[in-house]
Amino acid sequence: MTNFILRGFGLYAPEKVMTNADLEKIVDTNDEWITTRTGIKQRHIAAEGEATSDMALNSSRQALAQAGIDPSELTHIVCATFTPDSVIPSAACRLQEKLGISGQMCLDVQAACSGFLYALQTGRGYLCLEPDSKVLVVASEIVTRRMNWEDRATCVLFGDASGAVVLTGGEPDDGPRVLDIMLAADGALGDLLTVNGGGSAYSYKLGEPVGPEYFVEFQGREVFKHAVRNMTEICEAILKRNGLDKSDVDVLLPHQANYRIIDAVGRRFEIPEERIFVNIDKYGNTSAASVPVALAEAVHSGFIKKGDLVIVPTFGGGFTWGAALIRF
Ligand code: ACO
Repeated sequence: MTNFILRGFGLYAPEKVMTNADLEKIVDTNDEWITTRTGIKQRHIAAEGEATSDMALNSSRQALAQAGIDPSELTHIVCATFTPDSVIPSAACRLQEKLGISGQMCLDVQAACSGFLYALQTGRGYLCLEPDSKVLVVASEIVTRRMNWEDRATCVLFGDASGAVVLTGGEPDDGPRVLDIMLAADGALGDLLTVNGGGSAYSYKLGEPVGPEYFVEFQGREVFKHAVRNMTEICEAILKRNGLDKSDVDVLLPHQANYRIIDAVGRRFEIPEERIFVNIDKYGNTSAASVPVALAEAVHSGFIKKGDLVIVPTFGGGFTWGAALIRF
């Protein structure tokens, strides 16, 4: 049976930080509202001219260095993003060029905030077909370029970041092992969280200004409810499929959308607060990048220890959701 080993963890966040106090100067909001409703204190904002693939390059270099793998050894690049540099070429192809390599299979995966787990599962598929694969799985998002800075209900929630891992085969004790991933979606609920503008059903004519549909729009309360329920249920399902119980879990590392969602999932999952990894205060919701950024921080800071069983639930537009089980 193939072992799915995570060889290195990288993260990158742009230098520019926007605090809640900074936001108070842009929209009618305040630190108290944002903090109590979401747990967010600040977010990083990509610099003018900085592209999604530039950020992916930084997190990927860190992951490759930790893995001790040269970019030229890679066989596949899978990039999770809903904010690629362009429609064509993909962010993965742009990243490949910036890594100074060629020939690898490159593709983008779009599953909104669940994108990283969808990309990781794609990488596991390649490893099953070609056991010698070395797959760079990266998520990179410049969500703030899809923000309506006049809409206080959305623009306070998001930030920009990138996270990466290198996935290879190997022996069970070669490093953290992805034990299982479960993914799901419900397209019938797609309209509850959208970025429609620019899609083929919502195309623009030359010279026409973009409307609010160009930006992230969602029905927060509905998203909240579905996120808590689906993340909890898929965690229970993946544990059951692996003959495990809630009490076997050492760390809950969820998608960072809102502290209240994380807290609600933690309570339903009956996991103590100190075993839940949270960094939303520093980054806001970075969509697909949130999970690999959190993984990299949790590993580098020692929050996750060797031997820990880590469960990783995600939820995002589509709706899409999923969970991964990783043994460190
Ligand atoms: N500052 C101050 N007031 C605000 C702000 C703001 N930034 N945004 C909204 N308000 C006001 C509203 O206008 C409303 O005022 P009113 O009562 O006078 O009409 C009041 O606050 C309450 O607004 P609600 O939208 O009902 O607030 P709610 O408690 O539902 O919290 C939130 C909103 C934080 C978005 C919540 O619904 C949520 O976390 N939803 C899920 C997260 C989400 O949708 N993320 C999108 C990405 S999806 C994902 O990553 C899973």
